[in-house]
Formats: sequence, structure tokens, C-alpha cells
Amino acid sequence: MNDSRSETSTISTDDCAAIQVCRLKKTFARRSDGQTIVSIECLDLIVPSGEVLFIVGPTGCGKSTLLSLLSGLESPTSGEVIIAGQKPDIRHDHLNGILGIIFQQDRLLPWRTALQNVAIGLEIAGVTKARRVELAQKWLYKLGLKGFENSYPRELSGGMRQRVAMARTFALEPKILLGDEVFSQLDKITSQKLGADFHLFAREQKMTVILVTHQLEEAIQFGDRVVVMGNYAKVLLDVSIQGFKNKNEANALCEQIENVMRQEDTPVSR
Ligand SMILES: Nc1ncnc2c1ncn2[C@@H]1O[C@H](COP(=O)(O)OP(=O)(O)OP(=O)(O)O)[C@@H](O)[C@H]1O
Ligand SMILES: [Mg+2]
Repeated sequence: MNDSRSETSTISTDDCAAIQVCRLKKTFARRSDGQTIVSIECLDLIVPSGEVLFIVGPTGCGKSTLLSLLSGLESPTSGEVIIAGQKPDIRHDHLNGILGIIFQQDRLLPWRTALQNVAIGLEIAGVTKARRVELAQKWLYKLGLKGFENSYPRELSGGMRQRVAMARTFALEPKILLGDEVFSQLDKITSQKLGADFHLFAREQKMTVILVTHQLEEAIQFGDRVVVMGNYAKVLLDVSIQGFKNKNEANALCEQIENVMRQEDTPVSR
């Protein structure tokens, strides 16, 4: 049982919001000299249930830090994060089955087959063996890996391994999904194909999604909304792109986002 659930929150309970971030600040003490590094200065963000939100911004602006805070891997220096009504904390299991994370690296276990890798989260969740196999197989098939259930990660290509990692997360059918530059290590065509599958399944499952990316085209093609961050995770632009599929409009938005980022792109002394 998570003790943080009983703590009082400054955020009002809003059933429509899957993710709420209020006056969030995160600093780190640099190990080499103890200097305080500000990663996130003061961020407010509300993500309604079922929204697909892309976060873009220059390197070092705090995107990965935000995902670490949302997933409970890190805790805020001040301010608050609420996921599905609860404070995330990786040490507790209260968000199991609710929150899924896909990392940049596939993080597969080399001694487990593709099927066993996909089933790992289900195993931890206590799902019966027959059901684990059924679900793992279903997601491997959906992701085009029929015939590779018994292959080990070293026998698969990078794109195939990333598909196994996606299947591992989707098999848990999380309500909220976080991803950090999920396809950035793959070639453009593979990354586009995987991206299309990813978004198809996420929409089918009505998931709330936050994806960090450097691919503006992906964000505009698949997102409902794009948040552009500047230094210290300051929100420079927050734009809804629902139903925004006209090519000219998309190109104009791309240009606008790039201009905003260019103006912010000066190196900051941290
Ligand atoms: N564990 C840590 N200890 C010290 N500083 C950290 C730590 N994690 C992040 N930072 C600092 O916080 C800032 C933001 O880092 P973060 O990884 O969130 O950036 P990012 O936006 O994800 O960048 P990129 O696009 O390059 O992945 C950087 O200045 C980084 O050095
Ligand atoms: Mg990052």
C-alpha cells in the first residue's frame, strides 16, 4: 500500500485529467562539485484522459527529467505530480497496470526469449501462466513478430527488439503511457512504421500518452497537442493539433515550432 496516497495534495481531483503537474521544480546536486543544477524551474501541465501529447525542446531542457518525475523514478524538489489521482513512486506498485513506460533502449533481458520478455510485466503482476502466454503471443503477433516468439534478443534486429519492448508495455494494457525518444535509434523508415503501429494501438486502447521526441513531423502527424519547452522546461508554446492534418498547416506549424526553439537555443549556464 502506498503511503503517499494519504498525503494531502494541492491539486484538485479532476477525473478528466490523467496527468496533473503543478508548480513542479527539480534540481540536482552535481556530484563533481556539489553545484545545484536546475532542470525544471516551475512547470504546470494538465493532460486530459485519452490525449496524445508530444513534448519537444532543445537538448538539456528537462524533458527526460519530467518523464522521470512522472514515472516516479525521481521525486520533485518542490511542487507536485499526480498520475491517475496518485503520486507516482517507483518503490510502490500502486501504478502497476496503469502506467507504462517505453524507453529509448529496449532494455530486454538477454537470457529470456521474445515471448518471455513480453510476459515479464505480466509475471510480476501475478497473471497466470496460460494468460501470460496468450497475451504475450497476441501482442507479438500484432507487432508483426509471429514466428519469433522463441528468439533471443541477440537474434533480433534493433527494430524487432524495439517491437518486443513495445509488446511488453502494451501487453500490460496501461491507461497511461510515457515514452522518451522511443524510436530515435532506428532508421527513418523503420521508425515511421513502428511509430504508426504504436499510435494505432495506443488509440485503440484509448491510452493517455506523453511522448518526448525530436521528430516534429511525428508529433504533428500523430499528436493531439504539442508542448514546446525551452530552458528549464519553460513552456514556450502549447498548441492543440486535433484534426490538424492539412499539409500546409502542418508545415506552417513545424516552421513556427522551429523558430520558437531557435530563439531559445542559446546555451544556458547551469
Ligand atoms: N541525475 C542528474 N544529476 C545531475 N544533473 C542532471 C541529472 N539528470 C538531469 N540533469 C540535468 O538536468 C538538465 C536536463 O536534463 P534532461 O536529461 O532532462 O534533458 P533533456 O531535455 O531530456 O535533453 P535531451 O534532449 O538531450 O535528452 C541537464 O542540465 C542535465 O545535466
Ligand atoms: Mg532526454
